[in-house]
Amino acid sequence: MKIAVVGTGYVGLVAGACLAENGNEVVCVDKDAAKIKALQRGKIPIYEPGLEELVRRNRTEKRLTFTTALDKAVKNSQIIFIAVGTPIGEDGSADLQHVLAVARDSAKAMNGYKVIVNKSTVPVGTAGKVREVVRRETTHPFSVVSNPEFLKQGAAIEDFMKPDRVVIGAEDPRAANLMKELYAPFTRTGAPIMLMDCASAELSKYAANAMLATRISFMNEVANVCESVGADVDQVRLAVAADRRIGPSFLFPGVGYGGSCFPKDVKAMLRFAAAEKYSFQILQSVEAVNEAQKLRLLRKLERHFGGGGLKGKRIAIWGLAFKPRTDDMREAPAVPLIQGLLAAGATVHAYDPEAIKVARGIFGSKVTYAENSYAALTGADALVIVTEWNEFREPDFAKIKKLLRNPVIFDGRNIYTPEQMRTHGFIYYSIGRK
Ligand SMILES: NC(=O)c1ccc[n+]([C@@H]2O[C@H](COP(=O)([O-])OP(=O)(O)OC[C@H]3O[C@@H](n4cnc5c(N)ncnc54)[C@H](O)[C@@H]3O)[C@@H](O)[C@H]2O)c1
Repeated sequence: MKIAVVGTGYVGLVAGACLAENGNEVVCVDKDAAKIKALQRGKIPIYEPGLEELVRRNRTEKRLTFTTALDKAVKNSQIIFIAVGTPIGEDGSADLQHVLAVARDSAKAMNGYKVIVNKSTVPVGTAGKVREVVRRETTHPFSVVSNPEFLKQGAAIEDFMKPDRVVIGAEDPRAANLMKELYAPFTRTGAPIMLMDCASAELSKYAANAMLATRISFMNEVANVCESVGADVDQVRLAVAADRRIGPSFLFPGVGYGGSCFPKDVKAMLRFAAAEKYSFQILQSVEAVNEAQKLRLLRKLERHFGGGGLKGKRIAIWGLAFKPRTDDMREAPAVPLIQGLLAAGATVHAYDPEAIKVARGIFGSKVTYAENSYAALTGADALVIVTEWNEFREPDFAKIKKLLRNPVIFDGRNIYTPEQMRTHGFIYYSIGRK
């Protein structure tokens, strides 16, 4: 099939490359001319495992191209995916200006029947708004489909190629059938294609992210109670996870969730529920718990350094990205932590395998960036682990101890065990454990 994907970010680029991989002819469109120019030269603007190779292969085989010319892309395509950002607007709701602008501009370019597919995460009712905007601009026939994306950064290609499910909100059979055909190669392993109305499809994405965020905040609160009562959250987690009604995913306590999706989608869901006079109380708490949890390590650092405080202390940080295998720092817990450390008069020496360039854009020269994990440690008063990159899991502890001025580790992801740390002679703080 001939497909245009408008918005070549994490979702658009992955979706475009994966659709091309299955033999479709895909043109990825973006208004960011520098990004498109780079992609035309084979440069991938984000870090996502496997993406570079996938893009290279499909570019070489001429199934995947990049352009800023929306008009031509729409004319040449049967299906137009909208995968632009839906950031939090000033009032906390999802800002639909980019989605509606693409819908309008696509409508102007239409030259026959098109299926316009919303892949961006959008509040209930957006399909209707898109339909209205398109209808105003064209007399050609069209269908609007809601097809929320559930991929995770860091495993985006695997998730897109082998999804748990494909959700399609479509109100006319012609579009529904085209979408089923398009997704058939991705669901050969038996994953369901779920056909539903647009409102349910739109809400499914928010409900899924809200549920995952709820599990994280819930476990973070369990961990905080563990600390108060002297229980071990690792043991509690395993006991809870063994219950088949609950299962083991998303039960790891830590320094709070971040990224471009959970914080924004929780906020947007609170907002559109409130607009219908529904107060989504659990989600309000999920958000409040997460904000507090992002500062949990900072509080522990303050307590550890006591009266003298953090002024003049040199703090090493391992991990800046909001999670491993991405360079994304949007809403990353490392950001408020570093801001707090700097405000308290500490100096920060940070290392991340992929996110240093992004961090430079946020903190500039206020933070010192290390070439490798050990280089961040020299003379530091403590090591703080914020992101659980694999390379931090089995380090040379003797070397860490030698490089640090004081053998103190604050582990925001519980990647080591208290026994292990005791054996190596560290003062060790983690989340929800003795
Ligand atoms: N990142 C994720 O893991 C993820 C997962 C599932 C769903 N989503 C949702 O997908 C959507 C996109 O997210 P993302 O992370 O890929 O965003 P992103 O910010 O990485 O990319 C969005 C792209 O859209 C482009 N754009 C904006 N307006 C445009 C216009 N008028 N014409 C052409 N291009 C335009 C921007 O230049 C940018 O390159 C959001 O609604 C998000 O909530 C994201």
